[in-house]
Amino acid sequence: MQKVFTNIKELYIIADSQTHKLQGKAMQSPICIKNGYLRVEGSKVKEYGSMQELEVNEFEEVINVSGKIIFPTFCDSHTHIVYARTRENEFVDRIKGLTYQEIAAKGGGILNSAIHLQQTSEKTLYEEAFSRLQSMIQKGTGAVEIKSGYGLSVESELKMLRVIARLKEAVDIPVKATFLGAHAIPLEYKNNRNKYIELIVNEMLPNIAAEKLADYIDVFCDEGFFTVDETDTILSAGAKYGLKPKIHANELANSGGIQIGVKHKAISVDHLEHTGDAELECLLHSNTVATLLPSTAFFLRINYPNARAMIEKNLCVALATDFNPGSSPSGNMSFVMSLACIQMRMLPEEALTACTLNGAHAIELSAQGYGKLATNSTANFVITRPCSGLACIPYHFGDNLIEQVWIQGRKI
Ligand code: NIG
Ligand code: FE
Repeated sequence: MQKVFTNIKELYIIADSQTHKLQGKAMQSPICIKNGYLRVEGSKVKEYGSMQELEVNEFEEVINVSGKIIFPTFCDSHTHIVYARTRENEFVDRIKGLTYQEIAAKGGGILNSAIHLQQTSEKTLYEEAFSRLQSMIQKGTGAVEIKSGYGLSVESELKMLRVIARLKEAVDIPVKATFLGAHAIPLEYKNNRNKYIELIVNEMLPNIAAEKLADYIDVFCDEGFFTVDETDTILSAGAKYGLKPKIHANELANSGGIQIGVKHKAISVDHLEHTGDAELECLLHSNTVATLLPSTAFFLRINYPNARAMIEKNLCVALATDFNPGSSPSGNMSFVMSLACIQMRMLPEEALTACTLNGAHAIELSAQGYGKLATNSTANFVITRPCSGLACIPYHFGDNLIEQVWIQGRKI
């Protein structure tokens, strides 16, 4: 059945079918039609235009969305939603003055999550992650990447990735899986780091590849976690199995993560709170997306990445939630947009481009018609409550202006 959405106050198409990312200044001008219509057939966008051009067919359903905005669903390209327990005790420790690194050093943080995950069944992990994913979809997310990295043993990393594989089957949105065995060094390998890296390279990777459980490989390349040389070794090993990198870089220090990511042709380098001119220059001469995760900076009370410098430098910037129990217990992309605008001075249009098209590009989905509403794109979009314009979304921080979510042309 064909449907036509009419009188759309602002219809954000974002980009045409041939355009898979917007970088630098172009992020300010996603394609937008004022007083537009959107025609959907089955799961795809059939066409769009301005209301003056619309001729309604008698057999189609007309949905009048007067006063409301339509834009593509968010593509959340960096999450860790498979986990066993929340960590509000560490949240309180941080309020009392401990840093993220101090908590990690005393066995909290990622290692704490790993202990609980190892003791939790695949079934429970699946059910809890499924409910997080449903709640993200209801808030407007229509494509997602999910990482392993709380297993830290062969068996538990495989368990996490199998949970992600089941999530892929269970939902109507694309899900990409990233192997993050190199998230932290388990306590028992503290004095023998190489042994853990050998475990990743010689045992985890071959098993994951044999079961085709991962689309990407990630390393937490940062102070106190994995060094540049270790990252180099792990990414080289991943490449042998065709796993492209998307890595955690420069969150806690200027770690060299950006350069090693670019050397390995990473699809994206993520976090980037600590960057200088050399890092931006390095990204400029690459196809690597700069993915920023402002809710982590908010939650850990650390410096925000310099999004303005990145955009002025003509980089392709994406935004994601980093949803995880330690540094960003939220999968709310509208709030990410608010932080991007308020704390990183991104314009609402830049933030929307970063949350949709560029997020899709950071998980290789934009060329397949996600993150935009061009003709033949997948009809994944949101309809807002009545509002005066796009700026209302980040302006009403903490509120949810998304009234309806449509996935593959169906209202959920
Ligand atoms: O992206 N930075 C590394 N990993 C997560 C945090 C994981 C945790 O604290 O559990 C992040 O912030
Ligand atoms: Fe992360």
